Formats: sequence, C-alpha cells, structure tokens
Amino acid sequence: MNWPGLIEQYKEWLPVTEDTPSLTLQEGNTPLVHLGKLSEKWGIDLHVKLEGANPTGSFKDRGMVMAVAKAKEEGKSILICASTGNTSASAAAYGARAGMRTIVVIPEGRIALGKLAQAKMYGAEILAIKGNFDEALEMVREVGQEDGIALVNSVNPYRLEGQKTIAFEIIDQLNKVPDVLALPVGNAGNISASWKGFSEYALKNNTKRPSLLGVQAAGAAPIVNNRIVENPETIATAIRIGNPASWKLALKALEESNGTILAATDEEILEAYQLLASTEGIFAEPASCASIAGIKKQVESGKLKKGSTVVAILTGNGLKDPETAISVNEHKAFLVPEDMESFWEDLKKGVKA
Ligand code: F0G
Repeated sequence: MNWPGLIEQYKEWLPVTEDTPSLTLQEGNTPLVHLGKLSEKWGIDLHVKLEGANPTGSFKDRGMVMAVAKAKEEGKSILICASTGNTSASAAAYGARAGMRTIVVIPEGRIALGKLAQAKMYGAEILAIKGNFDEALEMVREVGQEDGIALVNSVNPYRLEGQKTIAFEIIDQLNKVPDVLALPVGNAGNISASWKGFSEYALKNNTKRPSLLGVQAAGAAPIVNNRIVENPETIATAIRIGNPASWKLALKALEESNGTILAATDEEILEAYQLLASTEGIFAEPASCASIAGIKKQVESGKLKKGSTVVAILTGNGLKDPETAISVNEHKAFLVPEDMESFWEDLKKGVKA
C-alpha cells in the first residue's frame, strides 16, 4: 500500500477542511512489533509501537504535521515551541517543509545530541535557556499568543488530534484493542491524545478501551506524587518535566481507563533500555523505555494479569541519544589489535566444542 501520510489517511477523524494544505513527510504507519522473549519471560503478550520509525524519529510527528498544517491554513508564518528535544526536531522539520520560520526554546545542555543536531539541520532558530522545560514552556506560551505565531506544543489542540491516530493504528495492527497501553509521561500530551483516540474509536465501533499505564521518571514524577517538581531530574531528558501542561487531562484519562501511573527510577529505565536492545534488537531512547520499566514493575508486583495483551509505545529512536548509549556501555571495551590472534583462535575452538 502506498501510505499517503497521516492527515490524508485519517482525515475523517481529523479537523481537516478544504483549505487545510496537504503536508506530509509520510509520518505514521509505524511498525508494531511483538516481543517474543519478553512476553515469555513476563507471561504476557507484549507488543511495542516503534514511533522512532517516524520521519524525525519520534511520535511527535503525528501531532506536528496536524499542528503545522493548521497553522499554515490559518495564515500563520512562525512556529514556536519549548522542548526537551523531540518536539523541537519535529517542529523544525515540518516548519522547513511548510516554508515557515521555526523558533525552539530548549533547556541548555539538557537535550540529547541527536535532537539538537536535527533542530540545527532543519534550520530552526534555537534559543537555549538556563532554565528547565517548564520555564521554557512558560516563555513560549506568552509569545505564542501573538498574531502570526503558532504555538506548537501539545497545548495546541491540533497536536493531540494528530497524536490520537496512534490508537487507530494499534487497533488495526493488533486486530483488537489491547488490554493495557503503556507509555512514558512527560508533559502528558501523549497519554491524553492516545486516550482520546481509543475513546473516539470505541464510540464509533462499540469496542472496549485499554487500561492506561503511564510511567514517569522518579526524579520527575509530579503526577505520581501529586505535586509540582521544581527541579526535575532524570537521565531520560525527554521527560524531565515538573509541571505537565496536560496534567488534568491525564488524570481524567487514567481515571476513565481504570489505569495506573507509576514512577521508574533511572536505574530501572536504563535496565529496560539495555534489555530491550540486547534481547529484542530494539533501540529506543531512554524516556521511551520507561514504559518497559513500568511494565516490568507491574508484572513483578503481580498487578499485571498474566496473559494480558500489552502495547508499549516506544516514543523515540535510540539514535537520538548516542551519549547515553555510549555511557551505559562504557565497561565494554573495544577489542584491541593485540587480542586479535587469540580472539580468532578461541572463537574457532568455541565453534568446534
Ligand atoms: N517520550 C519521548 C521520547 C518524548 O520526547 C516525550 C516528550 C515523551 C515521551 C512524553 O510525552 O510530553 O506527551 O507526555 N517530549 C516533549 C518534547 C516534552 O519537548 O520533545 P508527553
């Protein structure tokens, strides 16, 4: 099938008018991959949605294509956003595609290298501030009110509209609604959007809805602890957020879905990150792996029923954050030339044994 891109594919579900410009980088249609080994290990039927396969390497492209198309339709010429990295990469790419100026505000030194490289390559104007994401968002919310400027953070309702399409894809690929949908939570846009998608689908097709499992990083877990975190801290920089914009929407989604939100420590996140790559061949960025860490915790505490069908959203590509990947593997030395002869000898012996 020739995939037409997200807006064209899901136009009946989206606020598309005759005047909405066609805009796409062929986002969406990402793989849903079954994890055989982890399913067996945990006694569940576990699938992962590889959102890192989107054009800029994260789920943000789903919402961004919609937000940028609508900004263009409304005659705006400038896009602005605060970001922990992925939103800025996505805004910059779609901004370039749509011929718009893109301004991104990021916490200095706290975004993964690949994401910074993307924003630069796509030609965004980058404002690096001393503060964190929450402060950056406060800044752009104000300027985003100006005529001609579109604020493309997930407080922009078109972002959630685009992002809800992940629910339709999961149901189509799985041929049913999963029992549990697990995902990392930062600014809480994605959990709210996914729930909107499953709810709209359920209304139209009389299907059930999944139970949500939201996972925050322990050092940035305002929803779990029910209080704003002034200085959020975690290795998973994508979700280093202390005051999520869609907090209330997320709580509503969790309540309606009879869901759970929990926190995973950096150690648990990094363990899941390495487990996923080394046992299943899937390299997702640390924040994405919070979903896997959360599932493991739920399995171990007996709260996730054996045999459940679980989908985890792997929100971003592992290549975005090479620094973390290298640092967790620092103990693994490269083979040095002096080792080579004996290495090959041992290898041959091993094969014969
Ligand atoms: N996973 C990744 C890889 C992300 O980049 C984000 C958010 C999330 C999960 C959390 O999603 O905010 O909808 O709850 N990144 C934003 C950004 C904040 O600026 O790129 P959320």
